[in-house]
Amino acid sequence: MNDLILGIESSCDDTSAAVIRDGRLLSNVVASQAVHEAYGGVVPELASRAHQQNIVPVVSEALKRAGVKADELSAVAFTRGPGLMGSLLVGVSFAKGLALSLGIPMIDVNHLQAHVLAHFIKDEEERPQPRFPFLCLLVSGGNSQIIVVRDTDDMEVIGQTIDDAAGEAIDKCSKVMGLGYPGGPVIDRLARQGDASRFTFSKPHIASYDYSFSGLKTSFLYSLRKWVAEDPDFVEHNKADLAASLERTVVEILMDKLRRAAKDLKIRDVAVAGGVSANTGLREAFKEHAERLGWNIFIPKFGYTTDNAAMVAITGYYKYLKKDFCDVTAPAYSRTTIK
Ligand code: KG4
Repeated sequence: MNDLILGIESSCDDTSAAVIRDGRLLSNVVASQAVHEAYGGVVPELASRAHQQNIVPVVSEALKRAGVKADELSAVAFTRGPGLMGSLLVGVSFAKGLALSLGIPMIDVNHLQAHVLAHFIKDEEERPQPRFPFLCLLVSGGNSQIIVVRDTDDMEVIGQTIDDAAGEAIDKCSKVMGLGYPGGPVIDRLARQGDASRFTFSKPHIASYDYSFSGLKTSFLYSLRKWVAEDPDFVEHNKADLAASLERTVVEILMDKLRRAAKDLKIRDVAVAGGVSANTGLREAFKEHAERLGWNIFIPKFGYTTDNAAMVAITGYYKYLKKDFCDVTAPAYSRTTIK
């Protein structure tokens, strides 16, 4: 076999391309867009423009690092959605044009499914893979979901946020503290030096496996306003404790539901995916659950937590094996669920 899949990711603010041969990763190039930092969030139009600047060099670099020529490719896989429409269109159109010009199949990939299948990326470092069925907590800037994964193409969302995503809430609280964008890594760094039990913020009461983070965000904002009114330097003097307490609350909310789902469904293989899975507190909570409850836990490598094309290429590879191709008319979609 010599199945060579090029994966292309452009759903938000990372332009990425990766090459996989027979399921093994040869290259994964990611160009992140620093342009958004000044605006405190992703500016869709600037993201589309940066994707247009980056897409050709990023794909060329991925092929070069893989030691592969474009005419050797077996198929081109691309993120079709969900994501920002203007960003998706760049990757989708480029992938279709390349596949057409090479006369090879094109494979549409669901971005959320790709985050879950990041656990199956094989690179130079051997890591155990989850066995089906497993639970995956998918936590990013746009999603907070609990997914039952029965196969590479059989996933069911059993719980999801009814308002903000976990990463979105962390980013907004960090913005209120004046810590810049994206807030997740800064909150993580500060939290390591803080007292996580110092402040208490509100937690949602929802009976199902669904999440909610807007109440926490509001509670954080109102508490901070009150404290800053009493002491204008409050944030400066307490930022490590604020970050640690915020992180603890988010992790507790996430783990409470995940623990319940794992118990109800009697599933002990539990994975985490998405940008927020880079969080140290969440990773520690997973390890603590593994020791206490006997979970087999699966935590992705840092590079595969945030948006990357390696996860698109591996998802594309599984679809390629099933000859699950799309045709040139397949549109990008900004919203969709996992399937
Ligand atoms: O999956 P992702 O790269 O992108 C999308 O959501 O599309 O996730 C980005 C999110 C942001 O909210 C970011 O603040 C968060 O992941 N994040 C973190 C950490 N690193 C990234 N949150 C908490 N701790 C981190 N170390």
